[in-house]
Amino acid sequence: MDDVKDFGTPKRTSDKTINLTIDGVSVSVPEGTSIMHAASVSGVTVPKLCATDSLEPFGSCRLCLVEIEGRRGYPASCTTPVAEGIKVHTQTPKLADIRRGVMELYISDHPLDCLTCATNGDCELQDMAGAVGLRDVRYGYEGENHLNSVKDTSNPYFTFDPSKCIVCSRCVRACEEVQGTFALTIQGRGFDSKVSAGNKDFKDSECVSCGACVQACPTATLIENTIIEAGVPEHSVTTTCAYCGVGCSFHAEMKGEEVVRMTPNKDGGANHGHSCVKGRFAWGYATHKDRITTPMIRKSIHDPWEKVTWDVAINYAASEIKRIQKKYGRDSVGAISSSRCTNEEVYVVQKLVRAALGNNNVDTCARVCHSPTGYGLKQTLGESAGTQNFDSVLHSDVIMIIGANPTDGHPVFASQMKRRLREGAKLIIVDPRAIDLVDNTPHIKADYHLKLKPGSNVAMVNALAHTIVTEKLMDDSFIKSRCEDEAFKAWKEFIIRPENSPEAMSAFTGVDAKDVRAAAKLYAKGGNAAIYYGLGVTEHSQGSTMVMGIANLAMLTGNIGREGVGVNPLRGQNNVQGACDMGSFPHEFPGYRHVSDKATLALFEKAWDVKLQNEPGLRIPNMLDVAIDGQFKALYCEGEDIAQSDPNTQHVTHALESMECVIVQDLFLNETAMYAHVFFPGSSFLEKNGTFTNAERRISRVRKVMSPKNGYEDWEITQMLSNALGYKMDYKHASDIMDEIAKLTPTFTGVSYQKLDDLGSIQWPCNEEHPLGTPTMHIDEFVRGKGKFIITEYVPTSEKVTQKFPLILTTGRILSQYNVGAQTRRTKNVAWHEEDLVEIHPHDAEERGIQSGDWVGIVSRAGETVLRAHITERVQPGVIYTTFHHPESGANVITTDNSDWATNCPEFKVTAVQVSKVTQLSDWQKQYQNFSEEQIEFAGKSNALKIH
Ligand code: SF4
Ligand code: SF4
Ligand code: SF4
Ligand code: FES
Repeated sequence: MDDVKDFGTPKRTSDKTINLTIDGVSVSVPEGTSIMHAASVSGVTVPKLCATDSLEPFGSCRLCLVEIEGRRGYPASCTTPVAEGIKVHTQTPKLADIRRGVMELYISDHPLDCLTCATNGDCELQDMAGAVGLRDVRYGYEGENHLNSVKDTSNPYFTFDPSKCIVCSRCVRACEEVQGTFALTIQGRGFDSKVSAGNKDFKDSECVSCGACVQACPTATLIENTIIEAGVPEHSVTTTCAYCGVGCSFHAEMKGEEVVRMTPNKDGGANHGHSCVKGRFAWGYATHKDRITTPMIRKSIHDPWEKVTWDVAINYAASEIKRIQKKYGRDSVGAISSSRCTNEEVYVVQKLVRAALGNNNVDTCARVCHSPTGYGLKQTLGESAGTQNFDSVLHSDVIMIIGANPTDGHPVFASQMKRRLREGAKLIIVDPRAIDLVDNTPHIKADYHLKLKPGSNVAMVNALAHTIVTEKLMDDSFIKSRCEDEAFKAWKEFIIRPENSPEAMSAFTGVDAKDVRAAAKLYAKGGNAAIYYGLGVTEHSQGSTMVMGIANLAMLTGNIGREGVGVNPLRGQNNVQGACDMGSFPHEFPGYRHVSDKATLALFEKAWDVKLQNEPGLRIPNMLDVAIDGQFKALYCEGEDIAQSDPNTQHVTHALESMECVIVQDLFLNETAMYAHVFFPGSSFLEKNGTFTNAERRISRVRKVMSPKNGYEDWEITQMLSNALGYKMDYKHASDIMDEIAKLTPTFTGVSYQKLDDLGSIQWPCNEEHPLGTPTMHIDEFVRGKGKFIITEYVPTSEKVTQKFPLILTTGRILSQYNVGAQTRRTKNVAWHEEDLVEIHPHDAEERGIQSGDWVGIVSRAGETVLRAHITERVQPGVIYTTFHHPESGANVITTDNSDWATNCPEFKVTAVQVSKVTQLSDWQKQYQNFSEEQIEFAGKSNALKIH
């Protein structure tokens, strides 16, 4: 179904243009272009099998041969570059003969089951047999062949049927060049050559199931199981992945209203035709049997749910909110939106809170992940967003990754980064744990792994900056022309103090000062140096300080304002950037304008025709605290699962239990919904229109490919609630919401659905000054004018190890799962991650008599949980690590209430714990099991009830 043109070989760029003729047609292309690509540009199609434009040419199939006047022989057009003035012929009797001969050999060793083959009509081998006019095979089919080769069905998403393989090596090259995993090889020679996943089946090999090989395969050898089951698609709609902050663009390939394949979009600005296992394969949750599609209400969380109509549910929710506001006051209610929602959905939720509820009690899950990024970058650079596009990494000479694990968290961007690293860029990793990029990725080895102790980020960034200043490695002219002088002087006086030296700071970081000095030198003087960071930076008590420390480092070395450099937060969820942009924080309107700013307030009061509050509202942790105190009584929670994703689970659930009306809008009865009184079923990303904004500020369209199973797009549900509350909203389409956002937000004034359709995607700011968007920020000056150095004093966290809690627990995520796992746990991705494990260093394990696979009790000052142990040297002694994708793991039962001083972002990454071998689940886990079983039964019971 993918009818996107394949030019055969990659596009080349050059200042020099070459002119030639192909089959009598004149064509001009950049120097370095292949004859095949040039032919394709001029409208001539040359037969091909081993070439495709996402891979470098290989020249193995000999189908693309051409004749060039004045040259001898028949060169392969895929591997032969154009030359000035040549005259190429692609169709001659001799070429036709050769091509038929080649195809005859292929077909004589290929099953003749085209009519019943799953890719009938979508197979390049079949197309080529037709294109070369093959009518018969002279050799017969009786000779030695591969027709009985055994299929590999080990991967849950695709099948490998070697009987159909033509050994074109496209899969091997896709795995190497596009994905960078090197899981496949061609084994053997001649007739015996075959594709091998390291002599293992796919599931047990190094394969990470990205599907690049499946996409590259020209035959039905590597094929999606959905295509085997449903057949080839008949139409496609371009949309955006709803998982991580990379924001990959996809063609949702459809049969009627059923998705049969997701194919990454070659024109996708963030992914250029690549994807990971989640976006390409893990969309089955949208039709999972656990989905709830009918609204439900109940008086108490100890009652069974009652299925009701939308009218009843909306009116009940509105009447409860009104009752509560009347009884407890205007500020006793609020809402939480999610980074999983579209921009338009987030915008209407914050508008509902401000205009219909009359307060500013709105927050979003970015509170618990990247709120320090917003704060720290705004203070130093003037804009709460990353500075580059992803392609920028291809111009980096030095890449520093701090507290991020791109191959697991942001896999498609990681593939791009790995390509640059294989080309020779240097790599510095600052992380307490040995992520795969340290030395577990083919052809990549970190130049420095600064394996610091959790919680010592600021000590490390200060030590790096101290080295750069005292060893005179800084970019004086950049600082002089681009940064505030007074602020720099004050900062410099601070940073050169001996207590910030790598030697002094190693007492906190545990890292050898020599390595810190060498890494600082490399970052400052190694050419274009870019920093990529993740939640290992932000989720700390000094998260905002660390973000400012990173910005200081970039300004200090002039590594900002051009391609290849910059400060790049790797956002976790698909729309973290957008949720923040859309004003879902209690102190900011859309576009990061403070609620007390008179001009902004007047602008929104006029546009929304309502009086607005000019004081910041409650953040999520404040809402929870005030709920326990008895003054916060109703919460509208859209797309977010605070009972699983927020720290100190028991505190969160106690707060939810203290409320009188909890309204949850979600696809599934999630952990928070177990404490809810109203359930609004949500729509999946396949069922609605809208936009997501990825980590590079790229706004991309989400397009409806099927009708919402719950009857409404999520923004419509919020609109119905607002109308029932008495504040009129009358959007007819998600695009109306974007038009309002554009009208009211200076960085979005040029954004419209029409422009997004025309350009594919847009990186904000997009306005009169930047009509086509802004790939790189702060080019000539910072958004705030001059960049501001801010003093980043290291204050160790109050979460200390003691004799009772001698280890530090830190957390992270893995490739196959996504955040709280609500979606990925309902897909075949569970094949790779059935449960969260706790990683323990062999020394710590031995001391406690723990072996891999043992149940281990983890006790912190906040609580206790039990997980199975995995003994590994990836973690350092004194540090343990776990993921948090399964609610019953209770990772957040043990995390503490500590949070970032500026933004309240929880300190998920540092919890002092003790571990010991145990034989049964923790009390919390037993209670959780009982409670969730009861709640599932309540939802199940509701099925028997009549709909009102
Ligand atoms: S799915 Fe991806 S990682 Fe696995 S073999 Fe194919 S290209 Fe390589
Ligand atoms: S599996 Fe497909 S892509 Fe790989 S060598 Fe065989 S035919 Fe080519
Ligand atoms: S990298 Fe992220 S956005 Fe891209 S397909 Fe994977 S999960 Fe989706
Ligand atoms: S396409 Fe050129 S040799 Fe195969």
